[in-house]
Amino acid sequence: MNATPLFHLQGNYAPVKEEISATDLPVLGSIPSGLKGRYVRNGPNPKTGSSPHWFMGDGMLHGVEFQNGSARWYRNRYVRTRAFLEDAPTFTAEGTRDLTVGVANTHVVAYAGKIFALVETSLPTEVTRELETRGCFDFGGRLTTPMTAHPKICPLTGELHFFGYSFAPPYLTYHRADASGALAQSVEVQVPGPTMIHDFAITQHHVIFMDLPVVFDLELALAGTMPYRWSDEYGARVGLMPRGSRAAAVRWFEIAPCYVFHVLNAFEQDGEVMVDVARYPELWRPGSPGFSRAELHRWRIDIERGHVREDRLDDRVIEFPRCDERRISLRHRYGYAVHTEDGADANRGTALIKYDRQTGGAAVHDFGAGRVPGEGVFVPASATAGEDEGWVLTYVYDAARDASDLVILDATGFAGPATATIQLPVRVPYGFHGSWIPDPA
Ligand SMILES: [Fe+2]
Repeated sequence: MNATPLFHLQGNYAPVKEEISATDLPVLGSIPSGLKGRYVRNGPNPKTGSSPHWFMGDGMLHGVEFQNGSARWYRNRYVRTRAFLEDAPTFTAEGTRDLTVGVANTHVVAYAGKIFALVETSLPTEVTRELETRGCFDFGGRLTTPMTAHPKICPLTGELHFFGYSFAPPYLTYHRADASGALAQSVEVQVPGPTMIHDFAITQHHVIFMDLPVVFDLELALAGTMPYRWSDEYGARVGLMPRGSRAAAVRWFEIAPCYVFHVLNAFEQDGEVMVDVARYPELWRPGSPGFSRAELHRWRIDIERGHVREDRLDDRVIEFPRCDERRISLRHRYGYAVHTEDGADANRGTALIKYDRQTGGAAVHDFGAGRVPGEGVFVPASATAGEDEGWVLTYVYDAARDASDLVILDATGFAGPATATIQLPVRVPYGFHGSWIPDPA
């Protein structure tokens, strides 16, 4: 028997037991009146109190709504999926994956007037601005694969680009939906086998896929835990598909074996495609289930010469890299990431980093001892504000209070004092990704 407690059930990884709605939240500092909308973040919160892996708990949304320089409410709500409501089985009687069953615990994204809670194993789950669940969304029956939790909205066309991956063929399918919310294109992408594909990227002319050596393992699946492991045999490749083309046009480039959960952004420059990623040297080698260290790297894909140069941009350990969403697919100057600490899974750091790719420098906001931030999400001060002109929002766990704050940083004064700290009455367990969801125009 394994006597080591699972990290994801300890401390602030542990699930909270109640759904609450809170108003009259204490605020230190002042909330910018330009914030009109809500910050919502998703994360695992197993309803039974336990799950075999951090990635497998039921999704819970945590949101704070802003209006007129005040925080109107904090709410946390389970995503009421069929897995949550009915304990519905993941597989059909025929042995295929039931795409209407998933934990919806990874991200929450607004697109075409809808809000989706996402997990990469199932269809999107639509939720409301008040965090109530509407149900599964399948683009009018047209989406027949799971949807990644990391779709990309092109800021110039409003299109939603995404993919679905599966342990059974087709292993990888690319999809594009138009700005109105209609699924416009679905094409299979040929890959040698089933790998875990968490994220991807777009540039103005390309869709970029990562086929990395974390492969499906049936024995792990049958054991009921994360069914993927490192492979020394599979190899590692990055694929470029011209936007709007057929999948047969994907061109693959060999890279050094590694794993990447998250892309910061990608863009084109002088005939090269740049992809900034949080790169792990390896992940989940059999017998080694934890996480190694991820560092910011840049792949420079030379399309003409057919090779990829890989540069490490920083030696600090990071995760949850983000940029100003208005720069997705375009050259970015700034990026934001959580600065984690070396080693064990539960070892989170107390700082966020802001990278400046023009100067090569970085600013660090350290929240202080016992104050641990999650992913930082950039919110522009207005639709016409420049890159970095706005705020970075993050939930910060405060060990002294055993509760969390929503902290607002001025992105241009990143290392300085917080603009506002909203004290929540409860913990927001460490989770995954969130979005700023503005009021409808
Ligand atoms: Fe992710």
